[in-house]
Amino acid sequence: MKIFIDSADLDEIRDVAAMGVVDGVTTNPSLVAKTGKPLKEVIVSICEIVEGPISAEVIATDYDGIVKEGRALAKLHENIVVKVPLIPEGLKAVRTLASDGIQTNVTLCFNATQALLAAKAGATYISPFVGRIDDIGGDGMDLIEQIVDIYENYDLETEVLTASIRHPLHVVQAAMLGAHVATIPHKVIHQVLKHPLTDSGLERFLADAKKIPS
Ligand code: G3P
Repeated sequence: MKIFIDSADLDEIRDVAAMGVVDGVTTNPSLVAKTGKPLKEVIVSICEIVEGPISAEVIATDYDGIVKEGRALAKLHENIVVKVPLIPEGLKAVRTLASDGIQTNVTLCFNATQALLAAKAGATYISPFVGRIDDIGGDGMDLIEQIVDIYENYDLETEVLTASIRHPLHVVQAAMLGAHVATIPHKVIHQVLKHPLTDSGLERFLADAKKIPS
């Protein structure tokens, strides 16, 4: 499974990129707004840090606007993936962008039939939001299982990008279900790495190392 970081914060991205564990980056308007910087500046800086797919989301919601914004974003860097909302105008735009050779990430997916249609439109990635489904009492990972099965049944090439990840168990479950990608917030990447036995084991090794004669 590929690991992306779900962030627009350059320090967070540099931190995990330095570990060599990050294959790509996803952003959204909420994450970019937190940086206080213009979208294009943030996206170009991210492309300089991580060599891999970088999702940048359009703001337009009409076909012409999405295609125009998507083409402009794609010109910023060869690794840009245009993130498009899962609405009828969005899927029309995905079809056009795909025929231009532009990669797309169809976002805000909350059911399997939405995912099926996004794949048929030519999406490169589909982003089911597992955490937001859990938030309203559903089971986000059930949706990942359904989409992975449906895509496999029909040899659809769209990659399942598990989004809205809230905790390490989501990462384990996404990997066990065969999701192609998990996009993980910086905090959760560090939670994944953390284990009390690793910390106490290291503490003991360091204490014992002091007893080794030089
Ligand atoms: O980037 C899309 C997604 O990962 C958002 O997550 O935590 O805002 O539901 P969240």
